[in-house]
Amino acid sequence: MRFAHRHLLGIEHLAQSDITAILDLAEKYVDMNRQSSKHSDVLAGLTQINMFFENSTRTQASFELAGKRLGADVMNMAMQASSIKKGETLIDTAMTLNAMHPDLLVVRHPHSGAVDLLAQKVNCAVLNAGDGRHEHPTQALLDALTIRRAKGRLHRLNIAICGDVAHSRVARSNLILLGKMENRIRLIGPPTLVPAQFAEFGAEIYDDMTEGLRDVDVVMMLRLQKERMDGGFIPSEREYYHRYGLDAAKLALAKPDAIVMHPGPMNRGVEIDGTLADDINRSVIQEQVEMGVAVRMATMELLARNLGQAA
Ligand code: NCD
Repeated sequence: MRFAHRHLLGIEHLAQSDITAILDLAEKYVDMNRQSSKHSDVLAGLTQINMFFENSTRTQASFELAGKRLGADVMNMAMQASSIKKGETLIDTAMTLNAMHPDLLVVRHPHSGAVDLLAQKVNCAVLNAGDGRHEHPTQALLDALTIRRAKGRLHRLNIAICGDVAHSRVARSNLILLGKMENRIRLIGPPTLVPAQFAEFGAEIYDDMTEGLRDVDVVMMLRLQKERMDGGFIPSEREYYHRYGLDAAKLALAKPDAIVMHPGPMNRGVEIDGTLADDINRSVIQEQVEMGVAVRMATMELLARNLGQAA
C-alpha cells in the first residue's frame, strides 16, 4: 500500500483508500497502546516539533505521546511565549525551525489556510492540528476510527453533526471524510450556526433536533465556539440548551444503539447534558481520546515513510 502524501493538511486531499489505510494501521496502535510496554522505534532518529499557536489540551498531548511512543525526539514549542509575540511572522518562525531540520512539524493555527502556507515553505512533513475554521484532519480520522469500531462499518450510516457547525473545523473535516465514505449526514442547529451553504457538502440541514435526530446511528455534538463568535449567534445559553443541547429525551429519538460523540472540550449543560456525556453505555467520548493517539501514530508513521521522497 502506498500512501502518496507528503503532508496531512486536510481530509479534502485524501482518497477513500488513504483513509482506510490510516485506520487499519491505527488499529495496530490501539492494541499496542493497551499493552504495558507501548514502544516502537518507527520514528527513531526523527525530530517532531509541535507548534500550537492556539490553546490545546488533548490534541497536543495526543501528538506528543504518539511521537514519543514511536521513538521520535519530540519538542513542544511554547508559541505563546515565542518570537511571534515580538512580531515575527509565521513564515519567519517556520523558516527558523526548518533550519533545525525537523522531520515532522505539527501545527495548530487560528487562521484558516495558515498551515497550508507553512507547508509550502519547509522541507519536512507538516501535519495540520487545526487551522481556523478550515480543517482538523486527525480529529476526523479519530472520529472515523471510533465510529468504525462501535458500528462495525464506516459506510451507509446516518450521522448527525449538531450545534456550532459554522465555526467548526471538526465539523468540516468530518463532513468531508464521512461523505467520502458514503454516509448520510445531517447537520442540526440554528440557521445562525448551520448556514444553508453547508448543503453543498451533500448534507441535509435541520433546525429542529427532534426531527433531525430521528433514527440516526451516530450523534456528534460540537462545542459552542464562543471565541470565534462576534456576538448575536444564540439568544442565551439556557435557550440554546433547551433547543439544541443533547439530553436523554432527545437522544431517545435516535436509534436505540446510537452512539454519542464530542471532540472536547465540552461545555456541560450548554451543548450536552453532563450525565449523558459520562454514560459509558451511550457515550464514546473517552474512546475518541484513546483513538486519537493511535490515529496520530498511524499518520506520522505513513508520512515518515515518504520523507525524502518527492511525492
Ligand atoms: C476541537 C478543536 O480544537 O478544533 N477540539 C479538539 O481538537 N479536540 C474542537 C473545539 O475546540 O471545540
